[in-house]
Amino acid sequence: MKKRFLSTIAIAGAAAMALTACSSDSDAGSSDAADGGGGGDVITVGFAQTGSESGWRSANTESMKTAFSSENGFELVFNAADNDTAAQIAAVRSFINQGVDAIVIAPIVEDGWDDVLQEASDAGIPVILEDRTVSASEDLYAAWIGLDFEQEGVTAGEWAAAEFGDTETNMVVLEGTTGSAPANDRATGFDSAIEGTMITKIDSQTGDFTRDGGKSVMEGFIQNYGVDGIDLVYAHNDDMALGAIEAIEAAGAVPGEDIKIISIDAVHDGMQALVDGKINYIVECNPLLGDLVAAAVTGVVNGEDVEAVQYVEDLAFDQAAAEEALPDRKY
Ligand code: AHR
Repeated sequence: MKKRFLSTIAIAGAAAMALTACSSDSDAGSSDAADGGGGGDVITVGFAQTGSESGWRSANTESMKTAFSSENGFELVFNAADNDTAAQIAAVRSFINQGVDAIVIAPIVEDGWDDVLQEASDAGIPVILEDRTVSASEDLYAAWIGLDFEQEGVTAGEWAAAEFGDTETNMVVLEGTTGSAPANDRATGFDSAIEGTMITKIDSQTGDFTRDGGKSVMEGFIQNYGVDGIDLVYAHNDDMALGAIEAIEAAGAVPGEDIKIISIDAVHDGMQALVDGKINYIVECNPLLGDLVAAAVTGVVNGEDVEAVQYVEDLAFDQAAAEEALPDRKY
């Protein structure tokens, strides 16, 4: 995998000589990397972000923009696809046409990347994935930097099993974006950890990783099962848990007491809800990946050997741990 991209660096570098540096934070469709980007020491990078669906995503975008700053020797062409897979693939094609030096993608979903990744490879432009994974061949990208989503699900499920596994517990699940790696893997990990316990998944629907999505799906669950028919919510991220809290309170019940809540991310608002007793347990998903991704891009573009798979470690918090961690929380 590494070899393939290292062998294309010379081509990418040569192409870059004729490119223009594009302005940081510009839109993929409108920016022009066509004469000079990547010339000299500046590395022109197209970043295809998923969108701005959650607090986690905002923190991730900020981390990436800080790492890929002009002070650090980058010209960043930024695109956020608003959770639209076709738009994200179009943004990547636009980066290829602009002849950027490297492309970074946080893929919305796992499937459907083969063609455009092959096009990037054919153009000699290395691709680095951050955050989420794809099902396409590993030969088509130089490196992936992110979190172990399945382990996050296992950690959340193990806590649920320890707390509720011996009692009949009706659980509903607020899933992340359908087809995304975190939604798939967090479900797999959690389900494996609660196997053989008395926790029953009575319903599971996508809230698309958004607060509004979590709220409206939870409203539907409450309508179908009543607040007394639901004991536990497993939300694939904090934003959906925060939406669920609004729905539970609107139905006259107490989140964290009448209905327990487990979520993933540990962004500031989620941690505050945990401190306030409205969420019961949170598994971290660290969004501060920018520096690692920037180092990988620099390494790949300079023809260095770059670690192909880089996991970032996650913590987990109960209420006491959240109280301690919140004052110093960076996101
Ligand atoms: O891919 C990471 C997930 O995407 C985060 O858990 C979620 O909040 C975000 O939208």
